[in-house]
Formats: sequence, structure tokens, C-alpha cells
Amino acid sequence: MPDAIEELRRREEKVLSTSYTRPYPFVPRRGEGVWLEDVEGRRYLDFMGGIAVNTTGYAHPRVLAAARAQMERFVHVCFSDFTHEPLVSLAERLVEKLGGGYRVYFGNSGTEAVEAAIKLVRYHTRRPYLLAFTGAFHGRTMGSLSLTASNARYRNGFGPFLSGVVHVPFPSPSHPPFGVPPERAGEAVLGHLEQLFKTALPPEEVAAFFVEPIQGEGGYLLPAPGFFAELKKRLERHGILLVADEIQTGAGRTGTFLAMEQEGVKPDLVTLAKGLASGFPISALLFLEELSSWPPGAHGTTFGGNPVAAAAAHATLDLLEEGLMENARRVGELLLNELTTRLTPLAPVREVRGRGLMLAVEFASPELRDRAVRAAFEAGLLTLPAGPAALRIAPPLILGREEALKGAAILEEVIAGLS
Ligand SMILES: Cc1ncc(COP(=O)(O)O)c(C=O)c1O
Repeated sequence: MPDAIEELRRREEKVLSTSYTRPYPFVPRRGEGVWLEDVEGRRYLDFMGGIAVNTTGYAHPRVLAAARAQMERFVHVCFSDFTHEPLVSLAERLVEKLGGGYRVYFGNSGTEAVEAAIKLVRYHTRRPYLLAFTGAFHGRTMGSLSLTASNARYRNGFGPFLSGVVHVPFPSPSHPPFGVPPERAGEAVLGHLEQLFKTALPPEEVAAFFVEPIQGEGGYLLPAPGFFAELKKRLERHGILLVADEIQTGAGRTGTFLAMEQEGVKPDLVTLAKGLASGFPISALLFLEELSSWPPGAHGTTFGGNPVAAAAAHATLDLLEEGLMENARRVGELLLNELTTRLTPLAPVREVRGRGLMLAVEFASPELRDRAVRAAFEAGLLTLPAGPAALRIAPPLILGREEALKGAAILEEVIAGLS
């Protein structure tokens, strides 16, 4: 390991929480576009985007200019107490993007938006139970962690959790539950849910079902076709709210503003964070107008809805509307095809899947995946693990065709070298 990197690692080992993971020793100095440079001056193509956050890449002049201009005006005035233009107009814009009929609560991080959703669905319905999927990731604070079930390591030692959370299997054709064939994954989960409602979980006591349209941390797993539309219908029969956690899938990553648009579903609540402001911390919970039951003071935050982050979100939305979402669709399709052609014949690879610029390569074992992530890093490509054995690809949405092809070629070379 080069000296500057080793020196920083040694220092952090003495003072930082031991909970931070380090999949490989990358230490950034600066970034531009889809490229990052480390403290030794080596350049890396970024296929992980700070875990699906850096929508507009690094140092986008429009995002920086918007943030800088807002910083000159004011950095913070607690929005829980005093309103301001950048955030009201951001709320108006988000509501419009979702087709109208919603209200917005702002936080700083994904987990805060999920916590707000948990509180709102319980408050509004006065029902105690919550549904979520096995393999779900909704955050790491105690409420959201109670929903998270993607890895026992995240939960180990932290229980007991929020009472009333029930997990059901995710309808993934790649990993069908109950041993059914892939084409029956959706119907098997719906059948399981009906059985649950008849036997152990009275549906009139369930407040909401929290779902990721595509499981993120759980392994970039796509749902069975048509599953969410059918689920929504069944939940409506029982007055159960559907919360779409679009923290990883939203803000254009899958080629539409929300991934749920591609499922033809209008969720009752939506959470957004990660890519919304190109790396500035902000999150949003959108909820249908008719769920608006909180009196003033029922929920709040000091920092949530920071005006600088709001300005960066406006610039990010401008860029998404001007072509980045379309780019995610087009370059995502190219990259998916390229990866499928190049990687599926290789022995360590089980599957290539995804939508837009939310793509994954699944390996035959966790060890092979870990070796691939490491080898890609050594070859100048930054990726991350997801789920038990997938390598996730979540680059900035500004990714160009040439860069996509270059990344695919690096992956082919390093994965071919594993076997
Ligand atoms: C779908 C989903 N929900 C919630 C979260 C939690 O967001 P944060 O880490 O900003 O709290 C994440 C983060 O990975 C996520 O992917």
C-alpha cells in the first residue's frame, strides 16, 4: 500500500469507530466528472458514485454554483421554525414530479425519511403492524433498522427492535422464494401474504408495507414483473399503505424519476435521499395529501432541509430534466447489454441484471465477488458489493458511452482473471 494511504489508515485506526467497512484502500483527493483521483495521483473510473449518490458526478459546475450562491445568502435557518424559498420551491417541484397530490417532510439522510414514514403511517392509521421484505435495507437507526433485513450483521446485538414488524420474502425471479420457479416468484409471495392475513396477521391492524422497488443493499434484485401493481391492489382492499423507499432507486437512477413509475404504481408514501442533491445531504418523505394529519410539532428536525442542499437539489433536478435521466436509460441499457455479452460466459458469473444505471453482476460465491471488487479497484475501477454475492454498479448518471464500455472491458478482464 502506498505510504500516504497507509499513513492515513494507521491514523484512522486509532481514532475512528471500528464500524466503518473498507472494501479496499481507496483514499480520494479530488474528483471530476466520473473520475476520482486518489492521494497518490492515481485515477479511477467511478462505478459506485458514493453508493448511488453522486448523480451529477464530481465537481459539476452547475451544482457547485448553486450551492455556492446559496452559501453566500445563508447556510442554515431551522426550517422546522422558519420557512424559506429554496425548500418550499423544492417541495413544489418534487410534488409536481410525482404527479401532484403529495406533501413533503424534509430530513438529512435516508434513514430520517424512513423514520418519518414509520411515525406518520402509525400516527395516521393508528395501526401497530408494519410489513417489509426479507433482504430489505431501509436504514440503520432503530426504527428503520427494525425494517432492515438484508444482513444479520446489521442487526446483531442491537435488538429488541420495534415491535410489530413482519418480514415476507421478496419476489425475486433471480432468487425465487419457497423453491418455486422464477416465473412464479410474484404469485408465491402474494399467496404467502394472503395466508399470513388469514392466520397470523390481521390486515386491519397493518399500517403499511415498506418496499424497495428494486432491492438495493440486498443485492440489486429486481421484482417479479407486475408484482407491485398487484400488491398495491391487495393492500388497498385492507387500507394498508404502500411506502416506496426510493432512496437508492429514485432521483432518476433507473431511467425514470421514481422506479415505481415503471411498475405503474402510485405509492401512498415515497422516501428519497441519496442522489437527490448530488452528494449534499438531504432527504424527503412525500406522502399523499389525505395522510396529512400531523399537528405542528408532531415531528421535526434541526438540520433537515438545509438550504444549501436544497439549492444543490434544484441544480440536480435541472440536470436530470435536461437529459441525465434519459442518459441513465440509454447508457444503462448499453452497459447492461455489454456486461451481459462480456460477463455471462465467464465461469464466476451467475447473472447480470438491473435497470438504468442500477446494475449488478452476481457471482457464484461471496468470495469470488469480493475478489472481483478488489481486482477491479486494482485495475482502476471503483465498484461495491451488494447482497451476499453481487457486485453493484451505480455510477454518476453523467456516465458516457465510452466510459461505460471502458468499465465493462475492465470488469471482463478482471473477472476472466479470477478463474
Ligand atoms: C433503500 C434505502 N433506504 C434507506 C437507506 C438509508 O439511507 P442513509 O444511509 O442515508 O440513512 C439506504 C441506504 O443505503 C437505502 O439504500
